[in-house]
Amino acid sequence: MQKRGRRLGPTPSEALSAGTRSHYEDARHYTANYRDRVDDIDYYLKLAQARGGRVLEYGCGNGRIALPIAHAGVKVTGIDLSVTMLRDFRARLKKTPPEVAERVTLKRGDMRRVALENRFDFVFCTFNTFLHLYTWQDVERFLTRVRGHLAPRGRFVVDLSIPMPAELARDPNRLFRAPRFRHVTTGELVRYGERFDYDPLTQVEIVDMVFEPVSRPRAKWVTPLAHRQFYPQELEALFHYNGLVVTKRHSDFKAEPHSRDSETLIYHCKARRR
Ligand SMILES: C[S@@+](CC[C@H](N)C(=O)[O-])C[C@H]1O[C@@H](n2cnc3c(N)ncnc32)[C@H](O)[C@@H]1O
Repeated sequence: MQKRGRRLGPTPSEALSAGTRSHYEDARHYTANYRDRVDDIDYYLKLAQARGGRVLEYGCGNGRIALPIAHAGVKVTGIDLSVTMLRDFRARLKKTPPEVAERVTLKRGDMRRVALENRFDFVFCTFNTFLHLYTWQDVERFLTRVRGHLAPRGRFVVDLSIPMPAELARDPNRLFRAPRFRHVTTGELVRYGERFDYDPLTQVEIVDMVFEPVSRPRAKWVTPLAHRQFYPQELEALFHYNGLVVTKRHSDFKAEPHSRDSETLIYHCKARRR
């Protein structure tokens, strides 16, 4: 029988640390890779405008969503762990009109720990950033920070993919091929594939993204991405026991209600009154 969870066996913290950083070390590739992902920008932009003045994004990356919010006239603070993504965000801010750049405040740090003095009307954490919280203790620390940053009538919104049993059962030794493409950073044509290794005990899946330049196959490189899998009932319990009340659930950025077929969930939460 196929052994699973081998990646998290001997050195779990190294695997998790690499799986948290590596995918975000090439901001150009990140931007090119996700350029067609636009529905979430509109969704969060509308919420930021409706909720008013003070917005906080956890895991803002290189500003894919925070920058359009600033362009729309809303002040936004972004927290991120990745030096590379924040450097790219700052470079983008230099190319925007000063009145837009002035609306953005960036803070490098871990979302489980950063404590800002400000309170925010709207706090959000998008595009599976939440899946970088690998243990329930990580989630507790993070939600404590979220509650601390919410203004009295503020809202916290988070979207994430939910576990798909058939996908978690994939053979970790099998490489799932995708079409080759021209890598924006190296300029080379690359073969691309992914391996998926899910550990049912930790509920962490490590995706190895394998890039192989067509003209230099030996220069192959692998980028790991670690994602905790949260089952909806587990997640709702974590919200509940950490002082958050779910006010809305959507299954996508068109605000469809969630259903048995949902592959993503979007939760809107408020802090429970003491
Ligand atoms: C999928 S990206 C999302 C970036 C951006 N929000 C977007 O939608 O393009 C996840 C981001 O979360 C950041 N991140 C991961 N773990 C983090 C942590 N513990 N604290 C702060 N940021 C973290 C990564 O560096 C990365 O920029």
